[in-house]
Amino acid sequence: MNITLTPEWQSLLQHQKRLEHKHLRDLFAEDAQRFEHFSAELDGLLVDYSKQRIDQPALQSLLALARLSDVENWRDRMFSGEKINISEDRAVLHTALRHSDFKPFPDAENDVMPQVRAVRKQMRDIVERVRSGLWRGFKGDAIQNVVNIGIGGSDLGPKLATRALSAYQHPNLHFYYVSNLDSAHLAPLLEKLDPRTTLFIVASKTFTTQETSINAQTARTWLMAAAMEEWAIGKHFIAVTSSPGKAHEFGIPDDNILQIWDWVGGRYSLWSAVGLSVALAIGMNGFERLLSGAETMDLHFRKTPLEQNLPVLLALISIWNTNFLGAETSAILPYNESIRHLPAFLQQLEMESNGKTVSRDGEALTCRANPIVWGQIGVNGQHAFFQLLHQGGWLIPCDFVVAASSDHPLPGHQAPLLANCLAQSAALAFGKTEAQAREELTQAGLTAAQIARLLPHKVFAGNQPSTTILMPSLDPFQLGMLLALYEHKVFVQGVIWSINSFDQWGVELGKQLANRLLPAIMGDQAYDAQLDTSTCGLISYFRRHGHV
Ligand code: F6P
Repeated sequence: MNITLTPEWQSLLQHQKRLEHKHLRDLFAEDAQRFEHFSAELDGLLVDYSKQRIDQPALQSLLALARLSDVENWRDRMFSGEKINISEDRAVLHTALRHSDFKPFPDAENDVMPQVRAVRKQMRDIVERVRSGLWRGFKGDAIQNVVNIGIGGSDLGPKLATRALSAYQHPNLHFYYVSNLDSAHLAPLLEKLDPRTTLFIVASKTFTTQETSINAQTARTWLMAAAMEEWAIGKHFIAVTSSPGKAHEFGIPDDNILQIWDWVGGRYSLWSAVGLSVALAIGMNGFERLLSGAETMDLHFRKTPLEQNLPVLLALISIWNTNFLGAETSAILPYNESIRHLPAFLQQLEMESNGKTVSRDGEALTCRANPIVWGQIGVNGQHAFFQLLHQGGWLIPCDFVVAASSDHPLPGHQAPLLANCLAQSAALAFGKTEAQAREELTQAGLTAAQIARLLPHKVFAGNQPSTTILMPSLDPFQLGMLLALYEHKVFVQGVIWSINSFDQWGVELGKQLANRLLPAIMGDQAYDAQLDTSTCGLISYFRRHGHV
């Protein structure tokens, strides 16, 4: 089906035309209860999408598009364990990782819960031993430093969650995340750490990712230089992987190998043992609260009619902004310092899942799929790129994310933080008209000539759409809901765009080429003639200047 030719798509184009000259100011003026009509709350998580450039008829057509795309059926197929990741012939069952009741999941025949529970038990045991000081290093010391070595989904989720929940962190444990191949990431850390009190978690689903393998080998060498004995690896290394054999070859004993499965995508793996560092930081009960928050969102996604279904609504709004209003990017603006890694996490979640131009059936997409996701801490952005959001003339939908109370409170900080967050979304939506700007300048006592000169600079077009997501506080449960909300949003978007959101072939070519270029960079000139002149020129620079 070419979705762009369907009556539902065509009717959305009509809505876009109808609303083209409607400002958010008009939409708010027309409906005194716009906030009530375009916001929803689930267990404390409030999603306000009233500042999106949408009205009820357009939303109804978007819901019709979701129905046409069979969103409910695809959702049920995912939860039933069907192999909807067709290009890799895999089921998509990360939701099993947060399934809490004792019923089989996805069903009695294909129940994955015994394995899930077994690994959770293994995690709990490790977590309790490390946190209580019973886990000892090769010299008998308690662990003080935990270093997660991983990249992509084996880094971003756990790093985000550990930092987000720092208020709940064990007071004697420090957490580090190493992902970059550049030794400047690992080297300064190793300089300051003590091998006797350091525990490495090598998180790699495949256990073949080059960045992670090289960092893990270096960490191993560092440990061995101090410990001298192979058995020490068992005191200082844990692996999380779906390739236990490879972890074993690395020297990690079986008891320290925590399994994940092919039905857990890398960017959906926080909920598995890939989240071990999070569990070590906040305790296993805290980790289970995180799972429970995600499960609450899963149940909401499964059971709630599309009209009130938060992930569905967010997905539809994003589709509206991308495919009908023409937005090319989308900004993620967390206001809490502790969720500063949210934009990076969502970049992988959204762009690795839906950054595609080919449908799940191998056909070229007939519409653009995922926008470019970017962002950073909101208040810092205000002093950097917000100028462009306000007056740069681009349409850039924003997600503001903030908790009502601080996780690390100091007097005098929280109210101004919230005021800034709310002020920005209001300023972006409503702007400042020429009449308002003129009035302000007149009130300030400027002359007519001064006003004429300044006026064009003082006008804010507004009409910049945003969603605001509020949480009562940054706790494990709320964070779980928030991240699962985005996961399901990405899934729904993928369904409507006919994308398989669970593969990532686009990252392969770079990996292949890097492997091919390695010998050339190290000095082998045998293949130079086959290289393009740019790559050849750059390599010759490295040969002259690099120390490899
Ligand atoms: O970038 C590709 C990718 O496969 C991601 O999807 C994944 O999260 C990351 O690499 C790390 O993979 P692994 O956990 O197998 O080391």
